[in-house]
Amino acid sequence: MTLINVRVSKITDEADGIRSFLLEKRGFFKLPSYEPGAHIDVHCGEGIIRQYSLCGDPHDRRHYKIAVKQVEPSRGGSDLMHLAVTQGDNLEIGAPRNNFPLDITHNHTILLAAGIGITPIIAMADRLNEVGQSFELHYYSRGSSFAAFRERLSEGRYSKSVTFHDNLSVVQTKQNLREVLTQNRPQAQVYMCGPGLFMDAAESLALETRPIEDVHLERFAANPALSGEPTFPFKIELSQSGVMLDVGADETILEVLERNNINAAFSCEQGVCGTCVTEVLEGEPDHRDSFLSDRQKASNSRMCLCVSRAQGEKITLAI
Ligand code: FES
Repeated sequence: MTLINVRVSKITDEADGIRSFLLEKRGFFKLPSYEPGAHIDVHCGEGIIRQYSLCGDPHDRRHYKIAVKQVEPSRGGSDLMHLAVTQGDNLEIGAPRNNFPLDITHNHTILLAAGIGITPIIAMADRLNEVGQSFELHYYSRGSSFAAFRERLSEGRYSKSVTFHDNLSVVQTKQNLREVLTQNRPQAQVYMCGPGLFMDAAESLALETRPIEDVHLERFAANPALSGEPTFPFKIELSQSGVMLDVGADETILEVLERNNINAAFSCEQGVCGTCVTEVLEGEPDHRDSFLSDRQKASNSRMCLCVSRAQGEKITLAI
């Protein structure tokens, strides 16, 4: 994929532990356009690539804005962005990709965000507000100082649409989600982004009153309920060469390909970005990612090589 060179033109502390980075494209060409829910790959340094949602002004084709939470323990990306990247630095990024597209044709949309999950959600709120579609945004945080973009979301244009839920306990959060999702607007389409436990609760409540097609979510990491399942060895057959390789119970397909010097694109290695999705020609995948939709998983025609496995003894991949 072609990389884009950008300069970090501004860094802003948006909340406790959350910083935004304004990335500027210099030169003649503008940055590619994008839709709400899109993310970019950011090459943070030391060979680490992370995905961050675009949360700035989509009409500004000179700048992208991302926000990064410093997580503990860090897998490297958030530490680099918070501790090593400074204003004026140059970074390489990928073109925007969107695994979390917004449908603006519904009568009403419920947007749910927790913590740094606000980044794709605020872009959706901006778009729905711009086109005059009815929506409500519920933003859950540990406290007011942990809620990013609070000022922007408190502007007059959002006064009727945005509700901040600070300092709720787990039980209170679930009660509130139940009211929002099943009692107030049981048919509205829903978009949600946040940490795993929040997503698990919100997803199951949302599905109580609406079809799966109206529930859209983006996870930071693959659903742990899936990734914690037992693993078994299997074989992969590479259709282009006919090569057969063993995947041990404690390794991933991606690791086996790398070890055998076979190139395969990857980025997050978490089952969330979709970079490693590969066509399956034979066999049944054991899907453990959070990227493919339920319908795509049911078709068994593609799989994420970084986390998913085989149901049976062998799977054939279009590599
Ligand atoms: Fe991101 Fe596999 S590398 S889903």
